[in-house]
Amino acid sequence: MKEKLIIQGGETLEGKLEIAGAKNSALPLIAATLLTDEEVSLENVPRLDDVQTMLEMVRELGKDVTSTGPNTVKITGSVSSNQAPSELVRKMRASFLVLAPLVGRTGRAEVPLPGGCNIGTRPVNLHLEGLEKLGVDITQDDGRIIARADNLGANDIFLDYPSVGATEQLLMAGVSAPGTTKIYNGAQEPEIRDLARFLTELGADLSLEGSILTINGGNGFGRGKYEVLSDRIAAGTYMLAGVATGGRVKVESVDPSSIKPLSLKLSKAGVKVEETEHSVQVESQGRPDNLEIITLPFPGFPTDLQAPITSLLTLAKGKSVVKETVFDSRFGHVAELSKMGADISVTDSNTVFIEGKKSLRGTEVEATDIRAGAALVIAGLAGEGRTEVSGMKHLDRGYSQLQVHLESLGATIKRVSKNE
Ligand code: EPZ
Repeated sequence: MKEKLIIQGGETLEGKLEIAGAKNSALPLIAATLLTDEEVSLENVPRLDDVQTMLEMVRELGKDVTSTGPNTVKITGSVSSNQAPSELVRKMRASFLVLAPLVGRTGRAEVPLPGGCNIGTRPVNLHLEGLEKLGVDITQDDGRIIARADNLGANDIFLDYPSVGATEQLLMAGVSAPGTTKIYNGAQEPEIRDLARFLTELGADLSLEGSILTINGGNGFGRGKYEVLSDRIAAGTYMLAGVATGGRVKVESVDPSSIKPLSLKLSKAGVKVEETEHSVQVESQGRPDNLEIITLPFPGFPTDLQAPITSLLTLAKGKSVVKETVFDSRFGHVAELSKMGADISVTDSNTVFIEGKKSLRGTEVEATDIRAGAALVIAGLAGEGRTEVSGMKHLDRGYSQLQVHLESLGATIKRVSKNE
C-alpha cells in the first residue's frame, strides 16, 4: 500500500536520539558472511528494507538467516547456489557486492549487472577491472556477469576513483586471493574500516593506511560476532532537521569523527556544535549563514548529505552554492524544493545555486531517492503549513522509523496511506 508522510511544519525540534546501525555498513557485512560457513552474529543491524533485501539475497544463496533480537541476526551455513537472483539485484544495486565473496568461496558466480538509479548511471567497471587483476575471469552474458576464480591470485590494484563499492568488492576478493594484494586509491569511508574490521574478525589478515589497503589473502574464515557501526548519514540527517527547525538535537552512539565534515560546516554557518566521545549536539542560533558545499569522497563532505543540507541552505542568509562531484545526477530534490518556494536552481555542471529565504511553504512533494526524500522531510519540518511527502519506498530503504524518531523530537508528523 502506497503511503505518505504528512508534516505540519513550524515545530522546533528538541531532544536526543540514539542512532541505529549504518545501512551502508550492514549491507557489505552481510554480503561478506558468504565467505565463511561458520556462524556469524551481527549486532546493531538497522531495520531497513535494503537490509531485508540483502538478508534475502544470502538466504537465496544458501545461508541460514535467523533474527535473534530486534537488531541482531545470526547467519550460518554453506553457500548452495552461486547464481544471484536478478529481481534482488534489480531491487537493490548493493546486492552486486555478493560477487566477490561468492566467486572467492565457490570459484564461480553469476550476478546480474546492477542498473542505474535516480542518482546516476553508476557503472561497475572499477569492480570488474579490479577482479580481473586478481585473476577472476569475467564474461558477460545477457546482462549477467559470469565470474570464475580458477586463477585467483594477489596483485596490486589502482582504483581510478576511490569507489566505495569497488573498494568493498575488492577487499572481499583480496582476502580469498593467495598472496599480498594492495589496493591503491581505495575509499576511506568509515564503512570501509568497518568491513575491514569484520573480515579481520573472521580471520582475514589485512591493514589500512589511508587510501592504501594491504591484504594477505588465502586464509580460511571462521566464526565471528560483530557490531555494525552507527549510521553517520542518519545522524547528519537528524542534526540538519534540528538546525533547520531552529532547535537543539543531540545524536548519540555516534563517532563524531565520522560526521566531522557536516559538524564543521554547521559551525561555519553559525550553529553551536558540541561533541563528546559518542555524541554530537547541534543547537540553532537563528537563521544559518550561507555556505559553499562540494561533495567529495571521505573525508570530504558526504554526497549522501548533499540533498539534506541543501534544504537547510534554502533558509540560510544569502547565497549558497552546492556542487555535487560524486554522482552525475543527484538533484531530484531541487524541483520539489522549488515547489515549496525555495529560490534554487541547478546548472549543467552539477552545481546548485540557492538564494536563502526566510521561509518555505508546505505543499505536496515527491521523494525520488533516499536522500532527496530526507531533504524534503527536513524542508517540510522547517516550512510553514502542511507538507505531504510521497515516495515512502525510498525513505524506508534508508531510514528506520523516521517519523517515530522525529515525533520524539517534537515534530507533528504522521504516516498515512497515500489516498488519505
Ligand atoms: C556507496 O555507493 C553508498 N551505497 C552510497 O549511498 C554513497 O552515496 C556512495 O557509496 C558514495 O559515498 C552503499 O554503500 C550501499 P561509489 P557506491 O562506487 O558504492 C562511480 C545512499 O544514499 N563509479 O563510491 O555505488 C559511480 O558512478 C547511497 O545510502 C564508477 O564509475 O558508490 C559514482 O559516480 C546512495 N565505476 C562514483 O563512482 C565503478 O565501478 C561513486 O560511486 C564504481 C563507481
